[in-house]
Amino acid sequence: MRTIHSLKELRTILRGYRGQGKTIGLVPTMGNLHEGHVSLVRKAAEMADVVVTSIFVNPMQFGAGEDLDKYPRTLAEDQDKLASAGNTLVFAPTLDEVYPEGLAKQTQVVVPDVSDGHCGASRPGHFEGVATVVTMLFNMVQPDLAVFGEKDFQQLAVIRKMVRDLMMPVDVVGAPTVREDDGLAKSSRNGYLTADERKIAPVVYQTLQATAGKIADGRTDFQALESEAEQSLGKAGLRPDYFNIVNSRTLKPASPDDQEITLLAAAFLGTTRLIDNLSVIR
Ligand code: PAF
Repeated sequence: MRTIHSLKELRTILRGYRGQGKTIGLVPTMGNLHEGHVSLVRKAAEMADVVVTSIFVNPMQFGAGEDLDKYPRTLAEDQDKLASAGNTLVFAPTLDEVYPEGLAKQTQVVVPDVSDGHCGASRPGHFEGVATVVTMLFNMVQPDLAVFGEKDFQQLAVIRKMVRDLMMPVDVVGAPTVREDDGLAKSSRNGYLTADERKIAPVVYQTLQATAGKIADGRTDFQALESEAEQSLGKAGLRPDYFNIVNSRTLKPASPDDQEITLLAAAFLGTTRLIDNLSVIR
């Protein structure tokens, strides 16, 4: 496994692979890898001849007061984990390589509509930062396909729309959320939780499951269900950011005759913000 820091070197290597007719898969990450990321790399390796895993903590997608400074940078450990996932090139560019003129002068990509609401409302500018860096990674790597986790449901929808609208020649592949034994979705931010908070954290997924069960039982009073879910989160010691029941495709409030519904949840435990989701086919 090889780690590359410069774009020039990456392009030279990838040109060689392309010349041999090999397909390229990209797994964009911010590092601090866990089994969820490793599953994305494995999926990319099943679908493409060469996998590039990018590791870059993207400052543009963090808002003021968020966890950019404390976000764990663990390149050595990440390299060990990726070594076990199979043959991947690691692309870990420096900040200067990605934003040579600084963030303020960087051209940005805005994906309207699907970026509104949910995390887009709670974290203004977040999806512009994600869409911009993913566009740049696509241009740097020029992959045939790119794999993203379904845990970040709205992010995946933003990237799919961006690729469609800008006619980017990349197949966007979603991969299922990987969970701890107690249901907590794997996330780099779980590492921020104290031992007590960690015991409470699975309540997010339990609340999603309980609400999905009520919908399966025939309830369509979605606003009432959202309030009940937020109350359950609050009772367990979480501070709900949102619990939204949406049409899986548009991410707008679900209507009773929607066939595909997704429950989107975000909640704070202490200072840690957890997100998760669950889709229901009716
Ligand atoms: O999901 C993430 O880790 C990030 O948002 C991504 C897609 C790597 C862009 O920085």
